Amino acid sequence: MTDGWAWDESLFEGAAAHYERGRLPYAEGFVAALADELGLDGSGRLLDVGCGPGTVTVPLAGWFAEAVGVDPDAGMLARARLRAARDGVGNVRWVRARAEDLPAGLGVFRVVVFAQSFHWTVQDAVAATVRGMLPPGGAFVHVGEVTEPSSTQGLPHPTPPYDGIADLLRRWLGPVRRAGRGFLP
Ligand SMILES: C[S@@+](CC[C@H](N)C(=O)[O-])C[C@H]1O[C@@H](n2cnc3c(N)ncnc32)[C@H](O)[C@@H]1O
Repeated sequence: MTDGWAWDESLFEGAAAHYERGRLPYAEGFVAALADELGLDGSGRLLDVGCGPGTVTVPLAGWFAEAVGVDPDAGMLARARLRAARDGVGNVRWVRARAEDLPAGLGVFRVVVFAQSFHWTVQDAVAATVRGMLPPGGAFVHVGEVTEPSSTQGLPHPTPPYDGIADLLRRWLGPVRRAGRGFLP
């Protein structure tokens, strides 16, 4: 797929090391619920696009014969490899590519996951490509968990100082939200 848009290396540069500790985790039981809903049984293949440091790929991989994690950011993939080794997960292949590069000869997948990554892609074109990579009965899973201020209300830990963080960002980076070398589209 050619879209005239090039990957900006600075978009997630340096972020991977802080993902596991610094981002709100997915809901407890998320992987088991997904496995139950999709009737996963250890067969078939999983594709996790925009897999980051393997947040979803690694815990889900055991429900498949093989998993493939795809991400354009080398730092994310390095962390994902470490996480898989740490958790003793050996059936994952990591591929450095953008969603827009799919199908990239990766084959057919029973389940394709985008976990907080679909919004970064050229969505219509990517969805059409992914549809062609799914067999009849395959599943496209869009995980769009909201980790915004309102989602932390009522939790046992103190709410992060969102206003202070926003002030800091404005002070150092200006009033328009940045994304890598450019601005958030
Ligand atoms: C918010 S992180 C989510 C990572 C992981 N899926 C998770 O749930 O923790 C978004 C990820 O999407 C990746 N990404 C950004 N643009 C992408 C694209 N065009 N194609 C594939 N992945 C992309 C980033 O490198 C980053 O690792």
